[in-house]
Amino acid sequence: MNGFDVLKDSPWWRDAVIYQIYVRSFADANGDGIGDLSGIRSRIPYLVELGIDAVWLTPFYPSPQIDHGYDVADYCDVESEYGTLDDFDSLLKDSHQAGIKVIIDIVPNHSSDKHEWFQAALNAAPGSVQRGRYLFRDGKGDNGNLPPNDWQGLFGGPAWTRVTEADGQKGQWYLHLFTPEQPDFDWRNIEVREYFEGVLRFWLDRGVDGFRIDVAHGMIKDPALPDIGDNTAELLEYRAQPMWDQEEVHEIYRQWHRVLAEYPGDRMAVAEAWVQPASRAARYVRSDELSQNFNFDFLCSTWNADEFRRVINSSIAAVDEVGAPASWVFNNHDVVRSVDRFALGLIGGRGGSRLNRQGDPSELDVELGRKRARAGALLMLALPGGAYIYQGEELALPEVRDIPESALSDPIWTRSGHTDPGRDGCRVPLPWTASPAAAHGFAEDSQLSPTESWLPQPNWWGDFAADLQASDETSALNMYRNALQIRHDHPGLGDGKISWLPSADQVLMFERAGGFICLVNFGSEEVSLPESTSVILSSTPLVGSGVPMDTAVWLQRE
Ligand code: NOJ
Ligand code: CA
Repeated sequence: MNGFDVLKDSPWWRDAVIYQIYVRSFADANGDGIGDLSGIRSRIPYLVELGIDAVWLTPFYPSPQIDHGYDVADYCDVESEYGTLDDFDSLLKDSHQAGIKVIIDIVPNHSSDKHEWFQAALNAAPGSVQRGRYLFRDGKGDNGNLPPNDWQGLFGGPAWTRVTEADGQKGQWYLHLFTPEQPDFDWRNIEVREYFEGVLRFWLDRGVDGFRIDVAHGMIKDPALPDIGDNTAELLEYRAQPMWDQEEVHEIYRQWHRVLAEYPGDRMAVAEAWVQPASRAARYVRSDELSQNFNFDFLCSTWNADEFRRVINSSIAAVDEVGAPASWVFNNHDVVRSVDRFALGLIGGRGGSRLNRQGDPSELDVELGRKRARAGALLMLALPGGAYIYQGEELALPEVRDIPESALSDPIWTRSGHTDPGRDGCRVPLPWTASPAAAHGFAEDSQLSPTESWLPQPNWWGDFAADLQASDETSALNMYRNALQIRHDHPGLGDGKISWLPSADQVLMFERAGGFICLVNFGSEEVSLPESTSVILSSTPLVGSGVPMDTAVWLQRE
């Protein structure tokens, strides 16, 4: 073994920057208004120039699209709207050739109700093998006409739906933590476990580099399916509950770890496990389980120095305990974009959708939000471990709050009785060009207008377009490109340790190896630059002698 091999021993994902592609909204190659796999392929040069290490693709499997692909009807194929398996293979091949790894989304907690197993379960009798793959139960009350327990679905409404049996009578109920079209599997059923092992192998054999695991903390339910006593949907989140973070879920990940380890090239898996506190979340990344867990404590933080310091410290301490690297994320397809959150002081939790129109949007100072989001990005990218960027974050896109109600398509909108607009505001197809032609370049070479993409683009969308930003050296896009280049080249960034440096109130300052310093000013006063340092990058241009409010700088000790 030579020194180079030793260096390569550290798995690539420990400090990778992973770019989340919401397939439906990234790029549309055939001009039907819906993003697709060929569209992504044509944008590989953009991803290379941005400097990311990997992409995470949201579900592109055959699906009735009730929850935009998180309702999977066939785990081993491609939805025709998005392309074909051949298109997937080409995308994978070209990405690899460009040095970009590919992570795909696996949705094991529930299938679509159109999955052949669920259809078979509907047609089979209570107690049958077919029903045993899901969570069918008899109802309570006279004639079983009350649901088996009091759980509510996360998107609103009861978590149970009653089926009609072969004799035409109302019969059993099945559990769905999300919509009725997303029935939950029974993960105590060995056939379910074997089936998903086959699904993992199907994609690993094709060459994917890893998986993002949807609802990773929810697959095992307390076998007694007990009432939780309070029916509010909020109660279904985070806390110790009979559907979340059950001990046996870790058995599944130990098995998956063994499967991934059979393949060459450090295949990885990242858990979407909304679990608190950080020490519980870290149990998903023990050395014989998964690689990473999204850092939702970080994502939920408001724009405040003390809060960030606390969350950074507790996150690092928790993963250090189990020998895993930290990871950091501000945005995904489920939460209000950080530009709006940081401007309005919103938390970014799963309730992001409910917060969508909280805060008075007329008070939204978009430029303030963009300034803070850029500073936040330099904070995130200077921290040890891996980081996730959600498409459009590199453009500092704001949330789209003015989607016409008639165009809203998130199931949360209907299931909340039209009280919660849901998550569409962070899913609007990307503005590639300032020109509105071809839906701002989303559907290159097509006749599509900005209102004809699957979610309409607002009339101000072009102001944030990628082509405009590419030619402006002070843009968010160029800041991200520079930051990723520096992060790639600087020996102190990525995996490693941080040490806090003394700083003024409402200022965070820490040092990485090799004399790298990150300073973020959350306060309202300009702060002076530390002595004997030179500025490598700043989130907004430095005009005076110090660091203005809502600004981050990267510095090098001289
Ligand atoms: C989490 C996904 O990120 C979200 O978009 C989806 O609606 C739910 N899981 C249900 O699969
Ligand atoms: Ca398309």
